[in-house]
Amino acid sequence: MLAGLIRTHSGIALGDDKRTLVANRLRKRVLTLGFQSYEPYCKLLTTAAGAAEIDMLIDLVTTNHTFFYREPDHFQYLADVVLPGLAASGVPVRLWSAAVSSGEEAYTMAMVAAETARRVQGLNWQINGSDISRRMVAMAEKAIYPMDALQPVGSLLTKRYFERGVGKQEGMCRVQANLRERVRLQRINLLQSSYPLDGLQHVIFCRNVMIYFDAAARSLAVDNLTRQLAPGGYLFVGYSESLGSNPKGLEPMQHGVYRRI
Ligand SMILES: C[S@@+](CC[C@H](N)C(=O)[O-])C[C@H]1O[C@@H](n2cnc3c(N)ncnc32)[C@H](O)[C@@H]1O
Repeated sequence: MLAGLIRTHSGIALGDDKRTLVANRLRKRVLTLGFQSYEPYCKLLTTAAGAAEIDMLIDLVTTNHTFFYREPDHFQYLADVVLPGLAASGVPVRLWSAAVSSGEEAYTMAMVAAETARRVQGLNWQINGSDISRRMVAMAEKAIYPMDALQPVGSLLTKRYFERGVGKQEGMCRVQANLRERVRLQRINLLQSSYPLDGLQHVIFCRNVMIYFDAAARSLAVDNLTRQLAPGGYLFVGYSESLGSNPKGLEPMQHGVYRRI
């Protein structure tokens, strides 16, 4: 029953092999609420009073692993092909990290856009970041990371775009305000019927989330995302998330990159 609720509310398909993992993650929550077993917890989730608990449940079962410059070919393609092309068209470019987790993907996009704007004239950009997990959205808003996490960023860009923590924040660093203020974060479930965004997007990164979905949720999410793309806009999915050779309304460009027809 829990697996069914999770699937309905997030698209995440948990096989029998994930039972132990989910049970471990939920045990503490169930005890904190004063329940001795999962049964009353499941009951709560199906009542009106349990609606907020569904969010908590989704928070607990999502896998949020991410890092700066993950799947770096995509950022190279963004810098070399996508952003220069969009800059030439003169429109303000809207980019969206649609499963932003703790923010590394959106801030990598922001660094790539800021760096591209140093060499390409007329690039005006804004980033949306969203996730189903409120906890992750809150972390992305803080934009504070351990120094170790910045290894893929390199020292030049670390100096340019991060501030080092002092005192209690020693060993941590924060994305500088000039990048943070270009990244608007909010909670969005990819399966919801419409997305509260500032218009059609020119670039959508939706990476390493649809691998957790069943086929129906994946197809619904891809349809929704395609509709949210401006004509000629780009959809990036994770390296292991091919949409097949002939996805509806999309033209494959390179590994994990599609363009809206
Ligand atoms: C593994 S992380 C991927 C982060 C980043 N995109 C990357 O590639 O490194 C997957 C994220 O998808 C989010 N997620 C899962 N189901 C979702 C849904 N239905 N709508 C939006 N986000 C979802 C999770 O909360 C999690 O933060």
